[in-house]
Amino acid sequence: MIWNTKITQITGIKYPLIMGAFGGWGKSDFASVFSNAGGLGIIAALNFPDKKDFKKDLQKMKTLTDKPFGINLSMPHHSLKDINEDEKAIERYLKYVDIGFEENCNIFTTSGYKASFIGKRVHESDGYWFHKCVLVKHAVSAEREGADGVTLVGLEGTGFKNPLSNPTLINITMARKLLKIPIIAAGGIGDARGFLAALAMGADGVCLGTALMATEECPVLQKIKNKWITSDIFSEEFYKRIYHYNIKNFMAPSTAIGHRRKIVPTKVMVDDIINGAENILQSWGFNNSEINTIF
Ligand SMILES: Cc1cc2nc3c(=O)[nH]c(=O)nc-3n(C[C@H](O)[C@H](O)[C@H](O)COP(=O)(O)O)c2cc1C
Repeated sequence: MIWNTKITQITGIKYPLIMGAFGGWGKSDFASVFSNAGGLGIIAALNFPDKKDFKKDLQKMKTLTDKPFGINLSMPHHSLKDINEDEKAIERYLKYVDIGFEENCNIFTTSGYKASFIGKRVHESDGYWFHKCVLVKHAVSAEREGADGVTLVGLEGTGFKNPLSNPTLINITMARKLLKIPIIAAGGIGDARGFLAALAMGADGVCLGTALMATEECPVLQKIKNKWITSDIFSEEFYKRIYHYNIKNFMAPSTAIGHRRKIVPTKVMVDDIINGAENILQSWGFNNSEINTIF
């Protein structure tokens, strides 16, 4: 089937799947595999404190894939105390954007706080700016600031947390009513049903974070992956780590790991999600050769 959503249309990817931004691991070796599998691989710029290494990794990415990919710039709240007073921090971030354009990448994702100065620079060079946040009200602000799309991370997800986080179901269905720009659903999604459900809720794409930790290409130590895929997501300990607001658990795997009990190649995971979704649609009587969520 052909998957046609506002996200596939803007980015040129085959399936509406976006790789999470991964502090530590979002580099070309991993991101290119996701792009080659049909999604949007993401290189997390801050994995390269030295910008020369960032540039080299973008060049490497282009040798590993001819498919679209994006660059993430994460901004936890402690990184930019007050961007209006910290010109150096602004310049540091903008330099990454400039290097991205030098290497012909025009898709940028930001996560966290006060990212519109990046969006502005991206738009000056005719690129696309997608902002990731956890609250619907912040998604509304991002749209007002000119974002071309937003990723909303639900309470089930990992990464940035907020004491007022809502589950993915509420985030996406409400955001669909409030926003005009494309929405990417994130948080707890790790199988075909979650993927399809997110599109039904109104998402134009789905971001996979934790699920991708259970792939062969994810550069996490095997023993950590093994621990993650055997974790009991219904245990009290797991529940507290995910659902109780605690910024210290920034990189704990999310409930999505409950759907991934085996480590497989990334392409196998992507195909499994897409084929599974197509099978569900067919079992419901959907016979078209194209899924089109653009209305
Ligand atoms: C190991 C790991 C590292 C992450 N690092 C970052 C990061 O540096 N910046 C960011 O915006 N999100 C980060 N995230 C969050 C993901 O990009 C994504 O938003 C989140 O994992 C989606 O929820 P899910 O895990 O339920 O799929 C990280 C997630 C994981 C699992």
